[in-house]
Amino acid sequence: MTEAPDPQKLQEKVRSIATMMTGAHVAAMVALGVRLGLYGALKDAGPVTSDGLADRTGLHERWLREWLRGQAAGGVLEYQGEGKFELSPEVAMLLADEESMLYLGGNFNALPRLMNAVEPLTESFRTGIGFSWTDRDDEWVAGTEQMFRNWYRQVLVPAALPALDGTLAKLENGAKVADVGCGTGIALIEMAKAFPDSEFHGYEISPGAIERANEHKQEAGVAKLLFHNVADDPLPGDESFDLITTFDCLHDMTHPEDAASAIRAAIEPDGVWFIADINSAPTFEENLPNPITPMLYALSVLSCMSSGLSEPDGAGLGTVGLPEPKMRELVEAAGFTRFRRLDLPHPVNAFYEARV
Ligand SMILES: C[S@@+](CC[C@H](N)C(=O)[O-])C[C@H]1O[C@@H](n2cnc3c(N)ncnc32)[C@H](O)[C@@H]1O
Repeated sequence: MTEAPDPQKLQEKVRSIATMMTGAHVAAMVALGVRLGLYGALKDAGPVTSDGLADRTGLHERWLREWLRGQAAGGVLEYQGEGKFELSPEVAMLLADEESMLYLGGNFNALPRLMNAVEPLTESFRTGIGFSWTDRDDEWVAGTEQMFRNWYRQVLVPAALPALDGTLAKLENGAKVADVGCGTGIALIEMAKAFPDSEFHGYEISPGAIERANEHKQEAGVAKLLFHNVADDPLPGDESFDLITTFDCLHDMTHPEDAASAIRAAIEPDGVWFIADINSAPTFEENLPNPITPMLYALSVLSCMSSGLSEPDGAGLGTVGLPEPKMRELVEAAGFTRFRRLDLPHPVNAFYEARV
């Protein structure tokens, strides 16, 4: 016999699930605000009316009024009375300041594209096959870039590379570096700018990411940097690389063990494999209390696990699927004998150094 709903629990669940629904709708409005530059227009402007915001942005007052009211009702903006709305300095760091390490505007901006995956994914649940990074469009590629680019720009060279024993000196004297799963190349461009005597190679499966990476390379004016499509130009097995990096991509791969073996074959015997991947605990039970676990599982279905299952025999590790013990296994199975976790702060990633 089915149990009758407990009225108090029902009330709690109505509240929590309705809050989730409210958050999803407000998130769409935040994405609009980011795309239209509204947080930038509100930053340091003090309290403004919808007419004032219309003057500043050239956008339609009636639409802005609805948006402002919703944002204030959702607690994103402060309502100061008399039709005036204000962006606090704290929220400005999250949504207006693109250089802030706390900036989340890029993540909100990527949400509409992620949500669009819901329809094709209903088919994936039937077939078991997800969609590969090779098929992802420009908006997807650009959205992913925004998620981690500030870390590459602000932390990678000054704080992360010095944590790798002996690597900085090699880079300064002229080293050979590969970034596997390099996306749009932001990490490589930062390294190439800092170490002009070294040569840099990006390996990718996404033609859209490679195209965008080449555009960034042009803009940055860095010479010793090449992007390769692994489909026809894979990592060479000649033990020539002093440093190989994999940033947030192993858990996306259909065959991470093949990538690890290719990295082992490409790395110089004294070289370093620097790995960043999502910080998670080994069991579901341990991950449960983490407040971002629901988001990580959603991201997994929408993107990471889907990519990892884009071939019938794909590993499908997913966003939460590569915790430290599993990473160690993967690295050691490829022939690396030294593995250590690095103490580098990051909102979602863990970092590791592997050596032959
Ligand atoms: C989450 S994105 C991270 C991109 C980039 N490293 C960053 O941090 O912005 C994962 C990347 O891995 C790439 N990728 C997936 N499987 C790959 C493979 N087998 N070889 C090379 N790149 C791969 C995808 O195309 C995608 O660009």
